[in-house]
Amino acid sequence: MAQPVSSRKTGPGFLYHKGLKGRHVLEDFIRQRIEKKRYGDGNDMFSHFCREKNEAGDYFSEQEITDHMLFLLFAAHDTTTSALTMAMHLLAGHQAWQAELRQALRAIDAETPSFEHLGSKIPLLDYTFKEVLRMYPPVPGVIRRTIRPCDIGGFEIPAHTMVSTSISATHYLEEYWQKPKTFDPMRFSDARQEHKQHKFLWAPFGGGGHKCIGMHFADMLFKSVLFNVLKNHRVRFADASQADGKILYVPFTRPKDHLPLVLIPEP
Ligand code: HEM
Repeated sequence: MAQPVSSRKTGPGFLYHKGLKGRHVLEDFIRQRIEKKRYGDGNDMFSHFCREKNEAGDYFSEQEITDHMLFLLFAAHDTTTSALTMAMHLLAGHQAWQAELRQALRAIDAETPSFEHLGSKIPLLDYTFKEVLRMYPPVPGVIRRTIRPCDIGGFEIPAHTMVSTSISATHYLEEYWQKPKTFDPMRFSDARQEHKQHKFLWAPFGGGGHKCIGMHFADMLFKSVLFNVLKNHRVRFADASQADGKILYVPFTRPKDHLPLVLIPEP
């Protein structure tokens, strides 16, 4: 039987080979826990996947559960990690904004910020979240396949065609964003609201039927980490040249140098 043709180099030494090896480690880790999760009383997502049944009344297979958990890890963990990494990169490179943000965090009289604090009580934190995701969306684009012929912006697209929209390109459109290459969180302030000019202008979480289900969770997680790190520490680059360092975009946005940072306690 003919084998599927793949241009991927899978042999040892290639990055893809390393990736597959990592995948197998995670698969084993997940598979070994399915039985315990299925009969335990856990309230976590993994336990729910293990206890859920399909239309025929059977548990989902080990492979289905493993694939689903791997997707969730990728969708939830890697994206938020990328966002936080790029936040640290931008804050290390913009000390004045970092100091202003720290002042706003210190104005909150609480050891642990509440849901309300993170939701709307610290506007500068919210603008930072939005500006980081505008400049460096962890998912730079989304892909779809047309199910019937259609017209998109004057282009006729046949059925069964892959279509990709670029989130990052949209986030840099000069006709909407003022100086899009500049880190400027205040563009999201009530006075400016640049992102409100179009429904899909700021779209780091996608849009439509498959819009991110973890968007609010990511928002809270991002802000909690920044709150805890920045309230009592100043973050700076280990070396000033990092500010212009190379950024990698695949599979997730991150600085090529792995972002060595120095945390300085701020009494
Ligand atoms: C900063 C963090 C995050 C970013 C930038 C992000 C981005 C996205 C984007 C762009 C999509 C749409 C993909 C598409 O339309 O093809 C998506 C979907 C999804 N995200 Fe997120 N995400 C983040 C965090 C999370 C978290 C924390 C979770 C779970 C707790 C999560 C779970 C999902 C899932 C399950 C989908 C698929 C939804 C579907 O296909 O119906 N994401 N995410």
